[in-house]
Amino acid sequence: MSSEPTTGAAPASRRGEPLPHDLLDDAERLSCEQLRELQLDRLRATLRHAYDNVELYRKKFDAAGVVPDDCRSLADLSRFPFTTKADLRETYPFGMFAVPMADVRRVHASSGTTGRATVVGYTDNDLSAWADVVARSIRAAGGRPGHKVHVSYGYGLFTGGLGAHYGAERAGCTVIPASGGMTARQVQIIQDFRPEIIMVTPSYMLTLLDEFERQGVDPRTTSLQVGIFGAEPWTEEMRREIEERAGIHAVDIYGLSEVMGPGVAQECVETKDGLHVWEDHFYPEVVDPLTDAVLPGGEEGELVFTSLTKEALPVVRYRTRDLSRLLPGTARPAFRRMSKVTGRCDDMIILRGVNVFPTQIEEIVLRTPGVAPHFQIRLTARGRMDHLTVRVEARPDVGPEQREAAARAIGQSVKDGVGVSVEVEIVDPETLERSLGKIHRVKDLRTA
Ligand code: DLL
Repeated sequence: MSSEPTTGAAPASRRGEPLPHDLLDDAERLSCEQLRELQLDRLRATLRHAYDNVELYRKKFDAAGVVPDDCRSLADLSRFPFTTKADLRETYPFGMFAVPMADVRRVHASSGTTGRATVVGYTDNDLSAWADVVARSIRAAGGRPGHKVHVSYGYGLFTGGLGAHYGAERAGCTVIPASGGMTARQVQIIQDFRPEIIMVTPSYMLTLLDEFERQGVDPRTTSLQVGIFGAEPWTEEMRREIEERAGIHAVDIYGLSEVMGPGVAQECVETKDGLHVWEDHFYPEVVDPLTDAVLPGGEEGELVFTSLTKEALPVVRYRTRDLSRLLPGTARPAFRRMSKVTGRCDDMIILRGVNVFPTQIEEIVLRTPGVAPHFQIRLTARGRMDHLTVRVEARPDVGPEQREAAARAIGQSVKDGVGVSVEVEIVDPETLERSLGKIHRVKDLRTA
């Protein structure tokens, strides 16, 4: 895609330009060798801290026959056992904290749609490191001191709102802590307060864009210049949709509560070529989700992170369930990039033996004329066969013939591109549920 969207009235200054050297922080100026050295020191300290202070790590390392001193090179990390969400659940709520509770300044929790929530904790230093990486992410996205940042990630136990908030403050920006919901009011506030940056899930950005249009305002005429989108998978097609409709740069931010929250990795606005992992704090690996083997650079598999500086909740080889690839650094040469997340292992639908990801459907729906970027995937059982229906909203000005053509085109593209037959249902405009935060695309009605 073109890196420079056709913009509306928003000022084009500072768009897509490399970050001035004086705005890079110390770690961003390290050479590869210096970074690897720093990582090894921090990794060894993390393994020691985890082993000495968390019973679960002690037991797991002992069972695997390793002690922290066995880690003499970064490659030795592969000898250490993985950590999973199940470990955090088993020790719920605070059992994996590695510092006394009095030193834990804040907790967050992930929602736990499948089972118990997982609770994460932060010391003062952790909160400061987190603000640093989010501030670095905002600068990489084009944010500068003095910009106003409208935060529509939810505030609360979710890490999105408060994570973005303190990072934006650390970056010297003015924060507008909108949180999620009250969409009409958010649109008003964006018009009145004139932020340059918005931080929000891509699906809720679509809800906001619809609301602008409903109020008769062309979203391309707002003050917004950059959107920093994450917390859910989204595709290049979604980037194009948002950039064209909003007249902004759309860049990707990645993170997860267990590892920190938003700001584990960030896409640079000048390249938009995947997310630089902030490797001075988070050590990435990609493993084969089935065999657990560490995969070489460039191969797709499950992302695994080891924290390098965290005090309250060090994580060793945490299995994210997210699928991505590690690539060499570009705009920040010392930091490796992760490709845009294709999806979660857990979100993968196996339909009659074929793997289907919601992002594959998103790409196709967003390329199809006549339909809106709102869709839902329904799974039902028909006899002993699973059946997948893609429900997509028609655009308001589209008649029955065009709807039929769109349904046929989507069905054919899924068949050709993904390799399965699905049913496509084109529904009336504004009938599918809208996102207020993280969207749940798949409705599994098979056991209902
Ligand atoms: O979603 C943290 C976050 C907030 C990231 C705001 C970015 C922006 P959790 O609620 O713990 O934390 O969910 C983490 O969300 O394992 C991925 O599956 C997914 N995810 C997060 N960012 C992205 C992204 C936050 N940029 C889970 N692309 C992760 C794809 C993402 N998936």
